[in-house]
Amino acid sequence: MSFKEINLEMLPQHIAIIMDGNGRWAKQHGKMRVRGHEAGAQAVRKTVESAAKLGIKHLTLYAFSTENWSRPKTEVNTLMGLLVKSLRRELERMVTNNIKLSAIGSLDKLPKSVQHELQEVILKTTHNSGTHLTLAISYGAREEIKQAVKQISEKVKNNIIPVESIDETIINEHLYTQHLPDVDLLIRTSGEVRISNFLLWQIAYAELYFTDELWPEFDEQSLNQAILSYQKRERRFGKTSEQLT
Ligand code: IPE
Ligand code: IPE
Ligand code: MG
Repeated sequence: MSFKEINLEMLPQHIAIIMDGNGRWAKQHGKMRVRGHEAGAQAVRKTVESAAKLGIKHLTLYAFSTENWSRPKTEVNTLMGLLVKSLRRELERMVTNNIKLSAIGSLDKLPKSVQHELQEVILKTTHNSGTHLTLAISYGAREEIKQAVKQISEKVKNNIIPVESIDETIINEHLYTQHLPDVDLLIRTSGEVRISNFLLWQIAYAELYFTDELWPEFDEQSLNQAILSYQKRERRFGKTSEQLT
């Protein structure tokens, strides 16, 4: 699978990835789970740089779900520590590679150290014009939709917007992803075939791609393969095949 086979005119504008399988990768290699997460962080770097090289506009990575708070405290702490370390370590490379960072989720629930490091990297990459990388951390789609409904309801109650004006655009504007286009390609690693509360609204018409590779094994080749699979599909959006040609 070579880079050359990819049609650069037909790239997905927005790729989202459920990065799963760090724990199983560690187990397979006789290592502690934390080593799996560390290896996962390396895969993040490789994937972000591969996406940037291709010219992918938006890449959204699911790093920690609202449900992941239920993991053992030691694992949660390890993951938070790793986030801080990775953000610190990657800042320079992100600047060099023209990557712009954003974060979505219940960010106020994160430890102060993570919030601080996130703010720092977001600020220092804010004017970058290359790939827009969004980290979904402490993210849950139901939580996102719930807070959007609350905000919109408040506006209706206070006569800021009439009920009749509520449409898809208004809903989009109240999601964490208000600055992002819909997801074109959703990838999940590790063989699990589920969504796990990720971007429920935004994946309405995404092409889904599942691979058995564990997240630490995911690399440039894997990304290219997913994009190639995407490019072989016909996105009909409800229309007939004939209507598209
Ligand atoms: C994905 O790997 C990382 C996070 C969810 C934080 P897992 O930790 O879920 O790995 P498995 O599913 O146990 O293999
Ligand atoms: C989904 O992975 C969340 C992230 C990748 C951050 P999980 O490993 O938490 O998903 P489930 O619980 O197996 O569905
Ligand atoms: Mg998992």
